Amino acid sequence: MVEIGPIWTQEALRDSPHIDAEKARKVQGMFAAIAGSYDLNNRLHSFFQDQRWRRAAVRAAGVNATTRVLDVACGTGDLAEAFADAGAAEVTGVDFTPEMLAIARDKGRRNSGAPRADSAGTSISAPTARTSVTYHQGDAMQLAFPDQSFDVVSIAFGIRNVAVPARALAEFFRVLRPGGRLVVLEFADPTNPIVRWGSNLYTKRIMPWTASMVARDASGAYHYLPRSVSTFLQPREFAQKLQETGFEQCSAAPLTMGICVLHRAVRPKNQ
Ligand SMILES: C[S@@+](CC[C@H](N)C(=O)[O-])C[C@H]1O[C@@H](n2cnc3c(N)ncnc32)[C@H](O)[C@@H]1O
Repeated sequence: MVEIGPIWTQEALRDSPHIDAEKARKVQGMFAAIAGSYDLNNRLHSFFQDQRWRRAAVRAAGVNATTRVLDVACGTGDLAEAFADAGAAEVTGVDFTPEMLAIARDKGRRNSGAPRADSAGTSISAPTARTSVTYHQGDAMQLAFPDQSFDVVSIAFGIRNVAVPARALAEFFRVLRPGGRLVVLEFADPTNPIVRWGSNLYTKRIMPWTASMVARDASGAYHYLPRSVSTFLQPREFAQKLQETGFEQCSAAPLTMGICVLHRAVRPKNQ
């Protein structure tokens, strides 16, 4: 575990974290601090819904044996691995936090059945036909891929963490082929007032403490989480941003009573 002191203090979270000039550095530091327990916290604090949300994103993207997928802000690789499980031809994961990528790479090796070596260096498990995800360190706002090189671009719980989301959206548009699909998972404030009340109680008063305890985190990552959700674009505003970027057929589907929203958009065939 990376020992990191306070990053998102109460003071730093008084204003919107999205206007913090140091947002990128702080986000990277916070994910480095919580990487080791990130998956466990996701499962526990979503009541085991998070993988279901990722599978919904994979279904919405539409994947077959020729699909090339780029998963941006892939973190520990759960969405990228779900695309590989669904039979995509090629899956690439990109993230700017090395500590998250290290976990993704380990997971990828386990999932793809890559040969493990015994102490004498002899291979003890046979490789399977499943696609292996390729993980790269990189910035969502400056993707190191040629124009129109993917059929699907995805980002789960990542766009809110990017310093300038509009720049990342422009990059997603650039690397998608015409007709390619973008899928985005993000948290939102539920619209139903009773659900919103319960969700606020849980995400603002309970989860920050319990998740910080599980992660033994001093960075403030789980205090930043609800603050970054409530100050980020809500689904309608985000759909508007997608349209401004040039995407069409933009839709937003609420998942689990609107706690999470699945956005889907298409790069027009003639652009
Ligand atoms: C909440 S995690 C999401 C991880 C993963 N997509 C998932 O479904 O669990 C957000 C990730 O965004 C990454 N991130 C934030 N800004 C980024 C940027 N500009 N470029 C690349 N990765 C970024 C962080 O390093 C972190 O791993």
